[in-house]
Amino acid sequence: MNKRVAILISGRGSNMESLLVKSFEEKLQIDFLVISDNPDAEGLKKAEKFDVKTKVLKNLKKGWKIEDEGEVELLEILEDFSPDLILLAGFMRIIPIKIVEKYYLKIVNIHPSLLPSFKGKDAQKQAFEYGVKISGCTVHFVDRGVDTGPIIAQMCVDISDAKSVEDVSKKILEKEHQLYFEVMKKLLFSKWKVENRNVYFC
Ligand code: GRF
Repeated sequence: MNKRVAILISGRGSNMESLLVKSFEEKLQIDFLVISDNPDAEGLKKAEKFDVKTKVLKNLKKGWKIEDEGEVELLEILEDFSPDLILLAGFMRIIPIKIVEKYYLKIVNIHPSLLPSFKGKDAQKQAFEYGVKISGCTVHFVDRGVDTGPIIAQMCVDISDAKSVEDVSKKILEKEHQLYFEVMKKLLFSKWKVENRNVYFC
C-alpha cells in the first residue's frame, strides 16, 4: 500500500517541489496531498503540474494562528487523508496543540538553521547578522513549542563567504532540498525510534 504524505505550504514551495520531483524520480510509493493556507501560494501551481491533489484552507483569519473553524477544517482534511507523515515546508502558521498532540511524531518541519540556534522567523538573517561561519538546516518533529521538537537530522553549510542574507538563504536551501527528502524517505521506509529527545534510525 502506498504511503501517504501531506505537505503544508504557504508560498514558493521549493521544498515541496523537490520532495515531489525526487519521489517521482525514485518511483517511491507515495500519495501526496498539498495543503496551503494561502490560495495564491506559488507552490500550489507547482503541485498541480505534478497532478498532486491540493487543498486550500478557507476558514482562516489573518495572522499565524489556526483557530476555530480553521482548526476543524484542517483536522477534517487530515482525518480524511489519514497521513503517515505531515511535512511542514515553509508553512507560516503555528499548528494548533490539538493537532500536534493527535499527530505527534508524524508532523515534521524543516528549519533553515542549526537548531537550537536561530529559532523562529528569518533564521538566515539572524545567522548572517550574528556573523556565524557555519549554519545549516534542521529537520525536526513538531512539538508544542516553536522549532523545539526532537531533531531528526541536520546538515551544515559553510556561510563564511556569504555577502548577504540572500547568499545565506540560497546556500542553505540547496541543502534543505537534499536533507528533507532523505529524512522523509527514512521516516517512511525504515525503522526508527525516539528516546527522550534522541531520534535513532535502526
Ligand atoms: C525554507 O527555507 C524553509 O526552511 C523555511 O521556509 C522556507 C520555505 O521555502 N521553513 P520553500 O517554500 O520550500 O521554497
